[in-house]
Amino acid sequence: MTDFKLLAQQIRALAEDEPNFIPVLSNASALIYENMEDLNWAGFYLMNKGSLMLGPFQGKVACIRIDVGKGVCGTAAAEDETQLVKDVHQFPGHIACDSASNSEIVVPIHKNGEVIAVLDIDSPSLGRFDEQDKEGLELFVKTLEEVTDFG
Ligand code: SME
Repeated sequence: MTDFKLLAQQIRALAEDEPNFIPVLSNASALIYENMEDLNWAGFYLMNKGSLMLGPFQGKVACIRIDVGKGVCGTAAAEDETQLVKDVHQFPGHIACDSASNSEIVVPIHKNGEVIAVLDIDSPSLGRFDEQDKEGLELFVKTLEEVTDFG
């Protein structure tokens, strides 16, 4: 099981040196990708001109823009709710960026009460993510919201 408290401490320490969202989110995607097992993608989509735009990530080349309300990421942003998807092939409108992905979790990120980004993590295994991952990643995102300068 990933030590999400430790990951939150690590990103807090890294952001103390430079809170700008580019280095913080780049290091956050690296921390997650290195410390959670069985992933094929981990990164961020940032709200930009009314849709979600690809941000810092680890993994294969991915779709650049996702409309709010579309796919797992757009649904998380529209509903302002974490999406824990055990089988992406059963999720209506799932956007397959990497055909290796079988399960996914997306956590919304806020500034002043508004969704300004999402954290998106994909796994090649069905049912990779559970409630503990959801709680741990929501804690990690809470820390990101506190320490990151989103500009
Ligand atoms: N599967 C996502 C698209 C982004 S990729 O997984 C990196 C979705 O349905 O929103």
